[in-house]
Amino acid sequence: MKSIQCELSRRIGCALAEIGIEGDPLLFEAQDRKFGDYQSNCAMGIAKKAGKKPREVAQELIDRLDVGDLSDPPEIAGPGFINFRIKPSYLAANLAAIPPATDPVGARLGIDPEENPQTVVVDLSGPNLAKEMHVGHLRSTVIGDCVARCLEFMGHRVYRENHVGDWGTQFGMLVAHLKHVRPDVAENPDDLVISDLESFYIDAKARFDSDEAFKAESRETVVALQQGDPQTRKIWKAFCDESLRHCHAIYNRMKVELEDRGESYYTEWMQDLARRLEAMCAEGEDSAVRISDGALCIFMDGFKTRDGEPLPLIVRKKDGGFNYASSDLATILHRVEELGARRIIYVVGLPQKQHFEMVFAAARKVGWVSDDVSMIHMGFGSMLASTGKPFKTREGGTVKLKGLLDEAVSRARQVVETQLADDEEGQRPFSTDEVDNIAETVGMAAVRYFDLSHSLASDYKFDLNHMLSLEGNTAPYMLYAYARVRSIGRKAGVDFAEVSTADPLVIEHPAEVALALKLAQFRDTIDTLVRDLKPNLLTEYLFELAKTFSRFYDKKIGVRVIDASPESVRLSRLRLCDLTARTLALGLGLLGIETLEQM
Ligand code: ARG
Repeated sequence: MKSIQCELSRRIGCALAEIGIEGDPLLFEAQDRKFGDYQSNCAMGIAKKAGKKPREVAQELIDRLDVGDLSDPPEIAGPGFINFRIKPSYLAANLAAIPPATDPVGARLGIDPEENPQTVVVDLSGPNLAKEMHVGHLRSTVIGDCVARCLEFMGHRVYRENHVGDWGTQFGMLVAHLKHVRPDVAENPDDLVISDLESFYIDAKARFDSDEAFKAESRETVVALQQGDPQTRKIWKAFCDESLRHCHAIYNRMKVELEDRGESYYTEWMQDLARRLEAMCAEGEDSAVRISDGALCIFMDGFKTRDGEPLPLIVRKKDGGFNYASSDLATILHRVEELGARRIIYVVGLPQKQHFEMVFAAARKVGWVSDDVSMIHMGFGSMLASTGKPFKTREGGTVKLKGLLDEAVSRARQVVETQLADDEEGQRPFSTDEVDNIAETVGMAAVRYFDLSHSLASDYKFDLNHMLSLEGNTAPYMLYAYARVRSIGRKAGVDFAEVSTADPLVIEHPAEVALALKLAQFRDTIDTLVRDLKPNLLTEYLFELAKTFSRFYDKKIGVRVIDASPESVRLSRLRLCDLTARTLALGLGLLGIETLEQM
């Protein structure tokens, strides 16, 4: 599948070059298809610079545009917009070239992977191992996984890095507590089971707050841990492994793959970077790297405290210890130097915006990251309770992610049992196992889809009723739309995979044209998502596709499909159904959502 937007932009670029202008064609999908499918807004800016009338520039461009095979003659509208309507014949040829699903190229809907793939790091999830994963980790996991899937789909080499919090003073306390309650842990580290990490943490903390001797022991344990004492390390590792098992139970359930590389992994990198910085260190205010108040600091332009004083990034504290910023500076070095990353994407909540701005600026300031490497903080808004308040248990504690997912699945089961599973005779066509599977799929999908369908930076309210609704832009609606398209094949008595792709597609009726255009725009959606890192572009696209398909299949405004004639038209329409199903499945798959053949 070729990208229409790319091709059209390229042609406009050629016309621009002919009139001696190097500029962005500013081509967008039209908001309202009344005037066309795409719109270029470049004439206005060019006219302004050249002191000409925008409509004249637009006309000049049109006179040089060679788009006859692709679009109807372009039209000028308003102050100088150029509107394009894609020719049905172009859509038909573009879609007809997609091989069947059984072909590896067909499985990717004929979308070629990137010619120049990059190495990309996606830093996602990153829970703190001291505690159970809580709802705050959902967004990072889901968004990071979606972005990674899309980048991988386009052929990039992706490292999915789980920067877990496994280092720092808390771990002294936890290891000391563990030694008390499980004295055998050092002998049998693999047998360690902590069924509830949250209460383990609460117990350790209570002891720490009330028992001076234990407090002192915890502090000694931190020092022993940081100095690499083997026994302490062993117990610490047993704890981290057990905590990671809890995380991975959730990752498995969410079908998220990632590599655990926590803060502790970077200890040597932090020492190394401190050495490198020491070598750059100089006294005097004009040195970017200097010791300030005993701490090793990097001073970057543009960062000030509230009082207007320069605000440095502290890389090594006065007491010689490292901090969160040091570990993140180390992630950059590791990813650039060891992994060869060209793009590093941190999927972390917006409260850490300034942290990343400072770390990125510091890495550039000391010259560790060249201009061709991009560092991106993909900051996201919070998930709030349905009341609009921060998500907390009744007692004010954090809500465990596992509990939240369980609740979504059990509510999905109610929806499946009451609203979906009755066939015409009122019989439940599914076995209990099948219902379990459908409920799990729908529940997990609902949580993911709802999350991804919000624009990144906005907060949203966790609302099970809304996310499990069968109407609107929700996972159940999308899954149902997919299952419905698949059922058309069964009703028509054809296996979609068997429909010949040798015959031409017939794209004539407005409903066929609209569907073909939507299908052909999948490619543009993925390209834009991978460039701009906005997962909600894909949910919006899929929702539009499902609605366009509904209109196509609608008895009144759409076309006949199963009983269409002649046969060539019937087969062409069935192929459009097949392509719709495949696009929905591929798109949902990139969101991390599995489809169901029946529901
Ligand atoms: N553990 C951190 C937290 O809970 C998130 C880690 C995000 N990744 C990173 N490279 N800083 O806030």
